[in-house]
Amino acid sequence: MASFSSQPKCLVRGSINIDEFFALPHIVRPGETISSTSLTKRAGGKGANQAYAVARAGGKVDLDGCIGKDGEWVRDFLKSGGVGDTRLTTLNDEVGKLTGRAIIQSAADGENSIVLHAGANYHLASPLPTPDLKDYTHILLQNEIPLQSTLSYLKASKTSGLISVFNPSPMLSQKNLREFPWECLSWLIVNEGELFDLLDAFQQDPTTIKTKKNNNLEDLSLEELKARSTEGILNLHSNPYFSENINIICTLGSKGILYFNPTSGSKEIGHLPAGKLLNPLKDTTGAGDCFAGYFVAGLMRGEKLEDVLKTCLTACAICVENQGAMESVPSRETVLSRLT
Ligand code: ADP
Ligand code: NA
Repeated sequence: MASFSSQPKCLVRGSINIDEFFALPHIVRPGETISSTSLTKRAGGKGANQAYAVARAGGKVDLDGCIGKDGEWVRDFLKSGGVGDTRLTTLNDEVGKLTGRAIIQSAADGENSIVLHAGANYHLASPLPTPDLKDYTHILLQNEIPLQSTLSYLKASKTSGLISVFNPSPMLSQKNLREFPWECLSWLIVNEGELFDLLDAFQQDPTTIKTKKNNNLEDLSLEELKARSTEGILNLHSNPYFSENINIICTLGSKGILYFNPTSGSKEIGHLPAGKLLNPLKDTTGAGDCFAGYFVAGLMRGEKLEDVLKTCLTACAICVENQGAMESVPSRETVLSRLT
């Protein structure tokens, strides 16, 4: 059947979790039992976070994933935030899976410790169906579901001519990175650590090339960080395992982003600073997901790349000023009022 709607629409294929935060005096030690002073439940998972951010940014979006019967409130929460749920499956009792869980011990001294259970996120229909993407113009993928499924969606998106955005988090194994169908991808979003993880996996001879991964970005000057990430992006771009047709965004925490858009014909790498904080830094949880969601919504609107990115950076600034992952993603109106 022909589709009459030419309006851009994004499919997010990814994870949905219930995040349970236990407030504790300290992280539980082996053999110890302690009581939690509070228990907070929130909707989470990178797929859900990013879909929610697309919707908050004003984009039409459906979330494709699986929950258990215990996750119906998450479905309602996402729906009330503007995320379409027609592709969200509640698994039946025979499958016996619960909604994905993150059990987070949150200690008084600020330490965290997390137990993850993939649950329904790792459900795979057998045989694996060919994804139906006819309603969509854009697809957004992460790595919290079976890679097999992510790959089938990415390949189908190429066949159907969608614009694809991939955020490889958590990072894939080196073998999976080398075998990844990069030629299907339009946009890669990585942070600096992930950029160098990719380069490590693609090294032909590990003895001749030394990557410069450093997890403490705050120790580096902006110039140092820009120089080495720029070099990293160019190395990735020309690596035989990768593809020259992939546009790359590398987020640099408080130091903003680098962006590279070779499919536009430009070989320049641009930098934009992080959005200015108007309130104290509170919680960077979900900043990367806020960025990814706002980014796809901007692409869908067809704005100039720099304008899309500035909107993303302002959204992220508001996100880190506030507590929580989804809860801290601002609406488009809030972002626009800060931009002007
Ligand atoms: P990830 O969580 O995926 O590692 P980043 O930490 O790079 O992602 O954060 C994504 C974006 O959020 C950054 O590009 C920046 O715009 C914003 N951001 C993150 N941390 C800060 C911070 N401390 N101050 C200001 N902006 C920040
Ligand atoms: Na936040």
